[in-house]
Amino acid sequence: MEPFRYHVYVCDQRKPDGMPCCSARGSLAVIDALRRELGARGLVDKVQVTTSGSLGLCLRGPNLVVYPDGVWYSGVTPADVSEIVTEHFENGRPVARLITHDPAALKAEITDQRNQMLAALKARDEAGVVPDDLMGTVRAFQDSRVLLSAVELDCFTTVARAEPAATAGAVARACATDPRATLALLNALAAMDLLTKTGDAFFTTPKAKRFLVAGSKDDASMAIKHSLSLWRRWSTLTEVVRTGRPVASTEMANLGQDWTKPFIAAMHRNAALRAPLVVRSVGAAGVKRLLDVGGGSAAYSIAFAQANPELRAEVFDLQTVLPLAEQNIAAAGLSGRVLMRVGDLRRDEFGQGYDLILLSAICHMLDPAENQDLFVRVQRALGPGGRVVIQDHVMQSDKTAPRAGALFAINMLVGTPGGSTYSEAEYRVWLGQAGFAEVSRVAMAGPNDLMMGRRL
Ligand SMILES: C[S@@+](CC[C@H](N)C(=O)[O-])C[C@H]1O[C@@H](n2cnc3c(N)ncnc32)[C@H](O)[C@@H]1O
Repeated sequence: MEPFRYHVYVCDQRKPDGMPCCSARGSLAVIDALRRELGARGLVDKVQVTTSGSLGLCLRGPNLVVYPDGVWYSGVTPADVSEIVTEHFENGRPVARLITHDPAALKAEITDQRNQMLAALKARDEAGVVPDDLMGTVRAFQDSRVLLSAVELDCFTTVARAEPAATAGAVARACATDPRATLALLNALAAMDLLTKTGDAFFTTPKAKRFLVAGSKDDASMAIKHSLSLWRRWSTLTEVVRTGRPVASTEMANLGQDWTKPFIAAMHRNAALRAPLVVRSVGAAGVKRLLDVGGGSAAYSIAFAQANPELRAEVFDLQTVLPLAEQNIAAAGLSGRVLMRVGDLRRDEFGQGYDLILLSAICHMLDPAENQDLFVRVQRALGPGGRVVIQDHVMQSDKTAPRAGALFAINMLVGTPGGSTYSEAEYRVWLGQAGFAEVSRVAMAGPNDLMMGRRL
């Protein structure tokens, strides 16, 4: 029995630039149109869409094949989708004009394409062409830099405001940039599917409108600007590896609002999804006093306070962060229960009698000795039975996985004197030495896990 009436495989194959393939011929737009049309007609439970590798008709894409009928469509455009859905999926009548009817011809074409592809791959291999994935990594900075400069210059907001007259000239005038250079930047953004271009005018795509235009509901431009700061640091990596020390002074307390505002915005966005998950995993019941060490935007304290009306939280952070966190606390209507406390987590005592102390994204900033010292002060600040919760990258012992954590260690290498990402074994030893019992690890969705311990 078929789980769906129809199963549609749409080729989404990417090949090196210049080689014919469905993605270069617009398959993404067809897939998007198909999913939208099926959704709009309430057919998603009847017609399953799966993207696939090459179907073998590379010169005539985008291609899709519909099972159980075994019908092959070629040269499909978004404009054909509505007809396919109506005729084929609703009325059971395949659209004849888009079908390759002769199975023998179909097979011969697929075989021919496969042979050509294998010959091309063999020729590349014999010529010693660098593999695409390796070159992709070498050039990954290009996409990143184009996007970051566009965000730095507020290009997306400018384009959105100037639509439908957002020519490169108009955008350059509004952004105070050079017209020729602006045109090149906007063309690249269009090539990256972050803008579209009609005639001389540029338009924001739905993704750019949602995430990159100032004032939109999910505007991430401020958080993305944090990556501009990271870019500058990462550019020093070679020098840092030579010397073992970060190139610039990086005490967070000394960094201005140009650094702090995007940084805290980035933390706040990360927390939007994670804070409720952490609250659920840790549990807020019975917690009366929470200390959120390096609590940043206060997102986690807010989530705990929302989960338990008896809970009072203190966000312990730097003076520079205080006004940003206070805005979030006030917006959540929790000014009476979530309080700010300014201090230095590297040396201050934290007080006494807390039920829960959260160290979210803190340990990676510190070196091993600093973490051991921090855990001792945290242990002293907890009441009997109180818990410490660490949220961070938790590495396997050889530190090569998870990948995100290995790369984050580089982020700390270029940005801090001694920060890194640490393994479960290291956390267990440090927590044990600080006097914590019942040490456990809780796996979470996403790059970070929790390590927990209890003061007996
Ligand atoms: C990576 S952020 C984590 C923020 C928050 N805990 C979260 O998970 O979203 C690190 C936080 O530690 C704070 N911080 C850094 N150095 C500090 C110090 N010496 N004393 C107090 N807070 C500090 C930063 O201001 C920032 O809010």
